[in-house]
Amino acid sequence: MKPKVFISEPVPQEVEEYISKFCDYKIWKEKYPIPKEILYKETKDIDGLMTPKGVITEEFLENSPNLKIVSNIAVGYEAFDIKAMKERKVLGTHTPYVLDETVADLAFGLILMTARKLGELDQYVKSGKWHKSDNQKFLGQDVHHSTLGMIGMGRIGEKVARRATFGFNMNVLYHTRNRRPQLEESYGIKYSNIESLLENSDFVLLMLPLTDATYQLIGQEQFKLMKQSAFFINCSRGKIVDEKALIHALETKEISGAGLDVFEVEPVDKDNPLLKMQNVVTLPHIGSATEKTRFNMVMKAAENLVAGVTNQVPPDVVDE
Ligand code: DGY
Repeated sequence: MKPKVFISEPVPQEVEEYISKFCDYKIWKEKYPIPKEILYKETKDIDGLMTPKGVITEEFLENSPNLKIVSNIAVGYEAFDIKAMKERKVLGTHTPYVLDETVADLAFGLILMTARKLGELDQYVKSGKWHKSDNQKFLGQDVHHSTLGMIGMGRIGEKVARRATFGFNMNVLYHTRNRRPQLEESYGIKYSNIESLLENSDFVLLMLPLTDATYQLIGQEQFKLMKQSAFFINCSRGKIVDEKALIHALETKEISGAGLDVFEVEPVDKDNPLLKMQNVVTLPHIGSATEKTRFNMVMKAAENLVAGVTNQVPPDVVDE
């Protein structure tokens, strides 16, 4: 008998065919996200679950006593209760590597958009307001030869550092738990404590996962240290920042602007003050959202799932 799995969002045909070779499977193809009652009903006797950022709690595990693996279709797995999963010997996997370059591209997109006011000026031209006399309004800040301060230096951070150093001649400061001497040598990036990174950077970029230790790591105190001319960029997780403190820093001009792909609550509330600020670029969490990368992520998640339910070691078990 084939193992039973549930997939909580539609996947490409090719991925479905791959899973069908090894598993007896069901897929939720209706409106995202799947309602909790249906998810719990469908997962009662499954061996494996494949889900985008699935919230795996004690209660969910209790409901699925046969579960062997939860394969997350994302690299960030903050919604897993790892302790509870370990206690019940349920494996958790994620999708590292395949999205690194794509997210690094987006980080640079946000840096360029904020520094050169690309979003704001796009609206300005499209709304028919372009006048030669407005030239002063068009002036932004240089990205090349400026200082980028990166908090976090993992797989994606490394790709950003390469772009920054070789593509834009930037001076890169970084702060992370485990210093990366080899990257310092290859890219000339410099390790810094958080305070001095904040004080000296023209762009402060978050490139780290959300964990108990990084929750609201950046708040009022940190924004105060940043240069008034600096931009804050986040394409990691919204909850790493105290969003109220960010709004305050922008309103009081403690910093110059922000580029945000992520928010404390997603989708972001339409009344969130950040959406009204001209110097803030907002995106709907699209870090990894290219056709090719999303396909690769889903395929990787499927390979992890199949390995987990067929008693092999999945390649991307989360390492905590
Ligand atoms: C991830 O994989 O965690 C990304 O946030 C998805 O875009």
